[in-house]
Amino acid sequence: MSPIKIANTQYEVIDLIKNRWSPRSFAEKALDAATVETILEAGSWAPSANNSQPWRFIYALRGTTGFDKLLATLAPGNLPWAKNAAALVATIGIRETPDTQQKNHYYMHDVGMATSFMLLQGLEMNVYAHIMAGFNKQQAAEVAALPANEEAVSILALGYIDSAEKLDEPYKTRELTPRSRNPITTIAAHLD
Ligand SMILES: Cc1cc2nc3c(=O)[nH]c(=O)nc-3n(C[C@H](O)[C@H](O)[C@H](O)COP(=O)(O)O)c2cc1C
Repeated sequence: MSPIKIANTQYEVIDLIKNRWSPRSFAEKALDAATVETILEAGSWAPSANNSQPWRFIYALRGTTGFDKLLATLAPGNLPWAKNAAALVATIGIRETPDTQQKNHYYMHDVGMATSFMLLQGLEMNVYAHIMAGFNKQQAAEVAALPANEEAVSILALGYIDSAEKLDEPYKTRELTPRSRNPITTIAAHLD
């Protein structure tokens, strides 16, 4: 059985947010390009500073050379489970605005915004995502042939979810551990 890791919230937040979590057990079921691109398009509709859209998304489906190349950039702690993802997506941040060559101070923020939208769109389609910062940035830049003003921000593992039993430790325990967050009282302040 795949675990259900519904957020135990103080207030009633929307189901997509309550039900989203970052799994490591992915099913053999493949993803097609149209499904992945639907998720990427959702990301593209995220807000960004000045509508600069400082992002690109480079994806590869399992079973392709591209997938193996992105997989090879992952840290040892991510490789054992991410190899079973149905797709990998490198989210790319564009550091300077192409027209003006000015530094875009919000590119990381905006790539994160787009990534959030992708995660929620994916879940609506039963496709789960696991964000990873554990990868070799230089190697990813080479694999994706990034120009000097672009940077790989994260790699997403995408796929349908499978049983926690399929995982070895320590991943199995992590898969079954309930999600937790700092209570809202500790992070929200009401300014009178
Ligand atoms: C920027 C970023 C980098 C992350 N890098 C990794 C990673 O390299 N490996 C990993 O297993 N999880 C990674 N995660 C997943 C987080 O550990 C996970 O989102 C967090 O523990 C909360 O769990 P939840 O997403 O299930 O609520 C990353 C998440 C973010 C947002």
